Amino acid sequence: MPFQSILEDIVQTLRPELGQEGRVADYIPALARVPAEQFGMALRTCDGQEAQAGDSATPFSIQSISKVFALAMGMRAMGEDLWQRIGREPSGNPFNSLVQLEAEQGTPRNPFINAGAIAVTDRLVSRGDAKAGMLELVSGLCGETVYFDEEVAASEAATGFRNIALGNFMKSFGKIDNGVATVLDAYFHHCAVRMSCLQLARATSFLSRDGLNPFNGEQMLTERQTRRINALMLTCGTYDAAGEFAFRIGLPCKSGVGGGIVAVVPDQLSLCVWSPALDATGNSLLGMKALELFTARTGLSVF
Ligand code: DON
Repeated sequence: MPFQSILEDIVQTLRPELGQEGRVADYIPALARVPAEQFGMALRTCDGQEAQAGDSATPFSIQSISKVFALAMGMRAMGEDLWQRIGREPSGNPFNSLVQLEAEQGTPRNPFINAGAIAVTDRLVSRGDAKAGMLELVSGLCGETVYFDEEVAASEAATGFRNIALGNFMKSFGKIDNGVATVLDAYFHHCAVRMSCLQLARATSFLSRDGLNPFNGEQMLTERQTRRINALMLTCGTYDAAGEFAFRIGLPCKSGVGGGIVAVVPDQLSLCVWSPALDATGNSLLGMKALELFTARTGLSVF
């Protein structure tokens, strides 16, 4: 069955479940207002075919999916040095947890929990304009100009006490070089990038193509660096649900509390699903079901 029919079929199958379970992220006021009953999917294959269904062109807040792009920027700019202050182990804890940081002297477990992404952002701030750098990178990766949702960034800055605590806590261990407010301003903006499923499927295409950007032919990262991002997505990309994702879906995935999830089938395709209602771990409920149906119907898996 062609991918287009598979996506249409999944959207049709799951649409009746819209609005039945889960809750939109209400700890960020601007996200609490997003209507829950939206659902889209899009994919891009390594040879440039695209398929999309449902609300695949509606822009949403990419939130923690930005952590993949921040990590890519960090790896590109710093290579191995990036790992001096950031680990590579799953945390088994919620994405905004503080508990391990004290025992581990301010070194975050991995770059996909909030503390890890804040530490990566600190390194990016030291190297130049981390906010403009993110827009430039992501726009280049999807072949279209993308923007920040300033309302979401401001909403998070006004209520992001946990992230402010994480930044200050790492700073107290000497693990943040720049002013915490500057680092968090960049981090909140990264989370507030607005993109659609189709734009995200395009922007993550380099992860299915050993680091090659399909839109300008640039080798964004080396093959080895790209495989490492995929490995971290598989083990850490969905926080304390990473085991369940590997078990049910079997692909590297990265989620965000805006309801988006990107998934990668190395050497084949990149995929994005979006539906704003989340489960208790902060992952899109219908998004996870959609990915499970997709891998069941296509037989695609890294295992
Ligand atoms: O920092 C936060 O809490 C949000 N801006 C991002 C969290 C997030 O997306 C976690 N994802 N599932």
